Amino acid sequence: MTLGAACDAPLSFSPAEIAAHHMLEGAPRGFFLGAATSAYQIEGGARTDWTAWETGRYPDGTPHVAGGANAARAGDSWNLWRDDVAALGQLGANMYRLGVEWSRLEPSEGAWDAAAAAHYREMFAALRAAHVEPMVTLYHFTLPPWVAARGGWDWPGAPAALAAFAGRAGAAFGDLVDWWITLNEPNVYVAKGYLAGQWPPGVSDPARAVRALAAFERAHGLMAEALRANDRRDADGDGHATRIGIAHNVRVFDPRSWNPIDHVAANVADDFYNQQLLDAVARGRVHAKLPRALEIDEPFPALTGSLDFLGLNYYTRELTVGHLFGAKRYEPTTAPDRPTSDMGWEIYPEGLYRLLKRYSSSPWPLFVTENGVADARGDRRPDFLRAHIYAVDRARREGVNVIGYLHWSLIDNFEWSHGYEGRFGLFTIDFAHDPALTRRPTPAVETFREAARALGTPR
Ligand code: FCB
Repeated sequence: MTLGAACDAPLSFSPAEIAAHHMLEGAPRGFFLGAATSAYQIEGGARTDWTAWETGRYPDGTPHVAGGANAARAGDSWNLWRDDVAALGQLGANMYRLGVEWSRLEPSEGAWDAAAAAHYREMFAALRAAHVEPMVTLYHFTLPPWVAARGGWDWPGAPAALAAFAGRAGAAFGDLVDWWITLNEPNVYVAKGYLAGQWPPGVSDPARAVRALAAFERAHGLMAEALRANDRRDADGDGHATRIGIAHNVRVFDPRSWNPIDHVAANVADDFYNQQLLDAVARGRVHAKLPRALEIDEPFPALTGSLDFLGLNYYTRELTVGHLFGAKRYEPTTAPDRPTSDMGWEIYPEGLYRLLKRYSSSPWPLFVTENGVADARGDRRPDFLRAHIYAVDRARREGVNVIGYLHWSLIDNFEWSHGYEGRFGLFTIDFAHDPALTRRPTPAVETFREAARALGTPR
């Protein structure tokens, strides 16, 4: 089965309709509204493969991370997590997607840091006490140094090692956590680390990229099995001990012109980026392929039944240009004359609606597990939020089974190779001048509260 066709025709929302829209009005009881972060981007104090990467430079001398920044302290959420819980309360959020850091809990192979586990348990319990359901991500782009030393995602043992960690996390936190994300955005990691060479391991090698995507698929299947075997405790009493999802980055690829070469390039990008991982899960087969590089296709029964919901991380659209000759057959471009974020990503709420409609034919309930905008001034985020919740509502009203929306991010954080230049927080932090790292509300907090009120929160 192939899920959905390539993206449907472009459409345009009416700004007047968005302005008049009552966000989340009529959303079902139990709809989740919250914010997301990842462990490494906010905690500080963790040692991962990124810690070494951050100190490196490209052959031309430019640092791997903008401004030579690092995540040594980041938002210091390891210590300041109570401020994050307070921020969620201010938003009226009923869910928080956060990560646990593999390298912290398993600093060497087979070890388990009981103090770190107790610390996470305290956070999860505090969230539950504040009526905020935790959704926990087990892998969000970072590997413990001992895994990296064996070759990271190129190490054939990586999927099993991550699954063993997932099992331990399930056993350690299962009484407090029902909602799990096995992997965050394997496609982004593969594209950045194995095609663009901008993240560890910093290579540009299509065949290795295909093998890495296949390794991620195996990891997801094994992690889901390990979670189900080790977390049999239903934290919220709704009859489900585990709700397992994957946070899959989806992007609209529209061909830049009528030229058939652009269409072909858009379809190839869409297939590799959006589709293959989901087809693998739906078919119970590891499947990854890049034309003229490599194809892997083999049965993998652990994938069958591994997903309870499909998490979609949506940010932007790309206008794809294809080239018949030359080394670069595929070129991503941005639509001219369209609003963009600080990072140059087109602001395109219609894309979220289009993708929700497209994946409504998938076998899983949909969950927007990330959506946000780099906006250091904070003046575009309120409209961004309103327009994207409108997209969710419109899809929902047309019968799409979307069960939650999480905004990236709760707080400003370490934005990978962009360092502290990409500001996604609903709450901003002045990393350069405020040693207390105070979480200060941006104007979008008020917009978020407006949406939360439709759900009966803020309390
Ligand atoms: C997503 C990542 C997240 C963050 C946002 C801006 O692709 O999951 O860690 O970097 O983009």
